[in-house]
Amino acid sequence: MQVLVASNRGPVSFRRAEDGTLTMRRGGGGLVSGLASVASGTDLLWVCAALSDDDRTAARQDPEGRLDKAGHDTGAVRMLDIPEKTFHRAYNSVANSTLWFIHHLLYATPTAPHFDAVFRRDWQAYTAYNAAFAGALGQDAEQGAKVVVQDYHLALVPGMLREARPDLRIAHFSHTPWAPPAYFRLLPDDIGAALLEGMLGADHLGFLCDRWAEAFLSCCDEILGARVDPVAGTVTHRGRTTRVGVHALGIDGPELRERAGRADVAERMAALREQVGDRQLLLRIDRTELSKNIVRGLAAYWELLLNHPEWRGRVVHLAFAYPSRTDLAEYRAYTAEVERLAAEINDEFGTDDWTPLILEVKDDYARSLAAYQLADVLVVNPIRDGMNLVAKEGPVLSDKGCALVLSREAGAAAELSDDALIVNPFDVSQTAEMLNQALLLSPDDRKARAKRLSDAATALPPTRWFAEQLAALD
Ligand code: G6P
Repeated sequence: MQVLVASNRGPVSFRRAEDGTLTMRRGGGGLVSGLASVASGTDLLWVCAALSDDDRTAARQDPEGRLDKAGHDTGAVRMLDIPEKTFHRAYNSVANSTLWFIHHLLYATPTAPHFDAVFRRDWQAYTAYNAAFAGALGQDAEQGAKVVVQDYHLALVPGMLREARPDLRIAHFSHTPWAPPAYFRLLPDDIGAALLEGMLGADHLGFLCDRWAEAFLSCCDEILGARVDPVAGTVTHRGRTTRVGVHALGIDGPELRERAGRADVAERMAALREQVGDRQLLLRIDRTELSKNIVRGLAAYWELLLNHPEWRGRVVHLAFAYPSRTDLAEYRAYTAEVERLAAEINDEFGTDDWTPLILEVKDDYARSLAAYQLADVLVVNPIRDGMNLVAKEGPVLSDKGCALVLSREAGAAAELSDDALIVNPFDVSQTAEMLNQALLLSPDDRKARAKRLSDAATALPPTRWFAEQLAALD
């Protein structure tokens, strides 16, 4: 059986070294480990976009962008050399500045969105970028192959591919939330309909939790007037039926623990212990992403120190905020705001022998794995989040037991709400109170909760998550 995977970001990226040669880096994440497990005997091809000039150079080494055929040790990967301007408009303007904002409810509506002629031009680019993926998949797929398309970048691909290759079995998976109809309707009518109809080209659509699947079904009902069966989880539109399923991506516990047990992590752990001393450790780990709600999270820590002076000098907040999407002005401004507030907290409360907040903006995976193991409280408070794997990784790596303060708007809350301390992400005062309660939980209580959280977090590891999506196409 042949399986093709399509995603914007592929499993590898390239960078030109000082001597001019291209060096390759492998990415991590659920999709990579899910695929690694696909049965041998399966013929796999991963189609992705070149994301940088160096990626484009690598892609051009083979006429069809086959990295493996150009001599790279990637497995079968086809990297699409999409013209830079087209890519920029599709990825930054439409996918990340529009669709991401819609699904995460991120607009301040008095000023945005603003769909004008420039946006129409960018939408053309998004269409062309989706067509490039559909073209490559259609070209490389054998008769009856399974194609698994990932995320909001590629919402039009299922429809385009269905048209060109009706023999294929097509799935699409959304790693983000899905907007409710009233918010989805901010999009221009024709574009909203095109996105929904593009998705409905698939045989199977996967979401991370019931809420996002239900929101999608409501959009199909209210916006397209499609026939929706919420119990069966099907949408019938223009004579075709698409099934909608929920696959709650979890953590591969043994693999994560093995990685967290290595020497580089132990080294970071020693350094962190030094920094934190015998104080309680309050941890957050995010990409510096608007939807992650870092600013309100820090504001809640401020309010905790203000209202509960007993914690001053007895807790350290470690905030890892790693760079993300820095091409976008909003993200750069948000990063500056996070840094400003962090400095203000330290100015306000810091003393000669206590730094209340340590903000780290340089990505260091080993240090994140170390911090999980030391944390007393982990705070995950997104405005809205497809799943949030930090909320799942923390409990898995915490042997002594770590309390989880979790936004009710994260997909992970569907599985973790019994043992996490749940917050409304917009309510800073409530979040501050929850931080206090989390810090006060007894070690036994924390440990018991973390154990149950860890069990829930590992219920559907990436290998099974991916296998379920393939099985849904049988
Ligand atoms: C998060 C989301 C994914 C998305 C990815 C893209 O991980 O959960 O849905 O595909 O971000 O991030 P990127 O850095 O490639 O823009």
